Amino acid sequence: MRRRQAIKISSLGAIGFSASINTGCSNNAFSFDHGVASGDPTHERVILWTRVTPKKVGPIEVVLEISEKEDFSKVVFKKKLNTSSLADYTIKYDFKASKYCKSHQGFFYRFKAGNVFSEVGKSRTFSAETQSVKIGIFSCSNFPAGYFNVYEAAAKDNLDLWLHLGDYLYEYPMGGYATNVAEKLGRTPVPPHEMISLSDYRQRHAQYKTDHGSKELHKNAPLVAVWDDHEFTNDTWKKGAENHSIDGSEGDFFARRSAAIKAYFEWMPIREQESKRKIFREFKIGNILHLLMLDTRQYGRDKQIQPLEYLTKSGFNQAKFYNDLNDINRNLLGPSQISWIENAISKSNAKWTIFGQQVLMTKLKFPDISNALEGISDQLKPYIQLIKLGLPSNLDAWDGYPKERERLYKIMQRSGKKFISLAGDTHNAWLSQLFDETGNKVGIEIATASVTSPGLTDYVPIEAKIFENSIIKKNNELLWMDASSRGFTSIKINKNEIVAKYNFIKTIYEKNSSIKKFKKFKISKNYEIKA
Ligand SMILES: [Fe+2]
Repeated sequence: MRRRQAIKISSLGAIGFSASINTGCSNNAFSFDHGVASGDPTHERVILWTRVTPKKVGPIEVVLEISEKEDFSKVVFKKKLNTSSLADYTIKYDFKASKYCKSHQGFFYRFKAGNVFSEVGKSRTFSAETQSVKIGIFSCSNFPAGYFNVYEAAAKDNLDLWLHLGDYLYEYPMGGYATNVAEKLGRTPVPPHEMISLSDYRQRHAQYKTDHGSKELHKNAPLVAVWDDHEFTNDTWKKGAENHSIDGSEGDFFARRSAAIKAYFEWMPIREQESKRKIFREFKIGNILHLLMLDTRQYGRDKQIQPLEYLTKSGFNQAKFYNDLNDINRNLLGPSQISWIENAISKSNAKWTIFGQQVLMTKLKFPDISNALEGISDQLKPYIQLIKLGLPSNLDAWDGYPKERERLYKIMQRSGKKFISLAGDTHNAWLSQLFDETGNKVGIEIATASVTSPGLTDYVPIEAKIFENSIIKKNNELLWMDASSRGFTSIKINKNEIVAKYNFIKTIYEKNSSIKKFKKFKISKNYEIKA
């Protein structure tokens, strides 16, 4: 029997068994192998999360305890909660902190199963009086590609909140994308095949949450996360994905999507909405910040344009390409998400409007790097050739949906609000000013480097500085970028300014969380940028 079949069958067995059994938890032994986590803080509530690993299957009772003291000398809240294999033994509780905790400055939480306690986590809510906040921004954490040193460095950075903008985990099998050092680092993917079934997605989430850096960051500050494509599979759109075969060998895409979503909500400390496909949501922090987390990935996105399909015998069909690209009906967010944004914006009087979203909004064309063609993978060569035609460099990003981008810019213009876009996805760090098609400045984009996924200089054998200078020169929105380092970005926000600090770590190939270099920018309340 192939291993994949074995895993599928055994997981079905486990679900059926635990649903019918009615045991207590005596004689069972437990451990908390995946840490604790919190997320989606509001002015009142925050989600608290853990996962219990039982020795025997069956329903489990877990007790949540809250204290404002780290030693739990005074417990202010206690609650019995239940889990089973139906939720993959994960626990999630939406705790009303404003009722039980004296201040919004933070509290401690832990879980108990049998006689075993979890680690102690620290979380917080915000209040209408919150005057400043420090938020970490992360994307593209790829377990087999390296250690999550970035998470560990960030855990020591006194963040009030952290955002994960997607690619929190990757679907690939051992031998697939970014797994070349996995064996050496003891980080081969679990399961070893591509994740497709519910059991696969659950096992992969579980593996990611065993990483030391991941545990440290999760237990130190609440998270607000949105998914990108790899939480499903590469280049997902609303009805399919590049990495989902259409020959039936990987089953139905919608079944796969449902499995991915179920596992995601089980394993991520975020608040669920009635429609499981709806992850876009808003947060308010005092009067300073209105944070809108968007879904540019699976909710309303039309299929990506494939530039190679426009290469004909007589050359590249530019007319058809631009005609398709600029189709007014091409959606990235989709009409219902767009009107949700318009409505939410109209009700906010926060100083800063921030979009936490997946893909680069900045208009971007690559410089001609055909000199660096030698040493580049055969797979990338045709794309490098397309650069010479002056096409946008990434059609999976907002550049592939220019009319939708303009729709969003118009909404913001009409509301009289500029905005900050936060993006991930590219694995490199960027800072840009954003202009609409008539040249009005609409906002600023801060795009963060990956936690571990390989970046530009890992693919293109070119010196980072040379590449950085030439791409900045080529693109008028782009002010700065880093082509070579892994890291995270913190933004410190008050009513007068935002200080963005891009932190880059030394290595992902050994356990070492030291910061190698950083770059700081100040954004004034008029959206002027100073290095
Ligand atoms: Fe990624």
